[in-house]
Amino acid sequence: MHNMLASPNAMLRLPAEVHVQRRQQLLDALPEGGALLLPTANEVVRSNTTNFPFRPNSDFYYVTGYPEPQAWALLKKSGPDAGFFLFVLPRDRTRETWTGVRHGVQGAKSEFGADEAFKVDDLDRELGRLLEDVDQLYFAFGRHGAKERRLHRILDRVRTGRKPALGPATLRDPAEILAPMRLIKSEAELAVMRRGVEITTEAHIAAMKHVRPGMPEYEIQALLEYTFRKHGAWGWAYPSIVAGGANACILHYVRNDATIGEGELMLIDAGAEVDCYATDVTRCSPANGRFTAAQRDVYEAVLGVQERAIESVRPGFSIDEMHEVVLRELTQAMIDLGALKGDVEGLVESKAFEAYYPHRTSHWLGADVHDVGRYRQRSGPPLPFEAGMVLTVEPGLYFPPDADCPKHLRGIAVRIEDDVLVTDTGHEVLTDAIPKRVDEIEALRS
Ligand code: GLY
Ligand code: MN
Ligand code: MN
Repeated sequence: MHNMLASPNAMLRLPAEVHVQRRQQLLDALPEGGALLLPTANEVVRSNTTNFPFRPNSDFYYVTGYPEPQAWALLKKSGPDAGFFLFVLPRDRTRETWTGVRHGVQGAKSEFGADEAFKVDDLDRELGRLLEDVDQLYFAFGRHGAKERRLHRILDRVRTGRKPALGPATLRDPAEILAPMRLIKSEAELAVMRRGVEITTEAHIAAMKHVRPGMPEYEIQALLEYTFRKHGAWGWAYPSIVAGGANACILHYVRNDATIGEGELMLIDAGAEVDCYATDVTRCSPANGRFTAAQRDVYEAVLGVQERAIESVRPGFSIDEMHEVVLRELTQAMIDLGALKGDVEGLVESKAFEAYYPHRTSHWLGADVHDVGRYRQRSGPPLPFEAGMVLTVEPGLYFPPDADCPKHLRGIAVRIEDDVLVTDTGHEVLTDAIPKRVDEIEALRS
């Protein structure tokens, strides 16, 4: 496989100053007396003595860049000890022999910019002390399990200990300030996301070239994920979907253990994760290199809807409005293909379209594949697009084998998904180097 990356040494890592700027922005956004408390993830047991690969919490990593498990971060706006604090696993020669070098308390300060750092074992005492004069505490309640119960105990001790203090009077959702920040991507973030897109592009093209009838889906999965890791991505951003034929009717099909049949389409929904940024791309291609007439009809219908939806992306428009247009166009396509009878508005009203299009058209994309950020404003109307937002556009048509539709459509499923950046004047399709026109896809095999 030749290396088609435009810039093989491009960024796989955000520069550290980006995290410094983010913390300053967050400190500016916090109210007087406010503090933001963010735990990262723990390692999770996979079986007996073996863990799942560690993946940090997205908010925590966004603010700190700190890559190790079990850590906590505190950003404190006011008081004599205002600043940035990290609680981390300490250096430990024995543990490091088994699981690798830790940054430790010194590294948390010298490499990750903490004003003060502590061993995570000292969290109860040191965090309690730091929270005594905090008025409003931002912590994602309901999301951190045992860590939340630990925080409850710490707060209880602040209020009832030997020298009782008031402690936080108000608990607030960190998403209030973090989600709007994460929603708008900077140039530095976009550079990392573009790197993920380059790697994902190579993976999808390799897969479309490699597939043959009779091949197991997992062979394609292996090629995709090999390509992600080969270029230094963390791996996949979400479990790769490789679905032959009717398996693609299962929206999050991840078994990938069937054989791709002669005359079937293969749906791939897979993307690389680079430095905690997701790529999310879906393509469909024929296992034998040529679309059948029925596959082509369905494919062209979805592609037309997808291209028009992408064209509508510009500041001021919204995901909800785009979805409403897509629903109507896909419903018209269902009528044209003979799968539904009636008029578009009636079929939308009765939700008849859900038989063949059961999902939404778009979601935000960033550190999480279904990224943070509201879809509607608090007052109700849809959140308008702004430059710097990144979203997917992913219409599809799915005709399950037992569907009440013309026989020649049964078992055909098509989704086409691109990642789109909102710009000042419109949009940029980040993933547009991944072929999606019928002639381009067939040409990959000729
Ligand atoms: N891959 C998950 C999604 O497309 O939303
Ligand atoms: Mn998606
Ligand atoms: Mn997807």
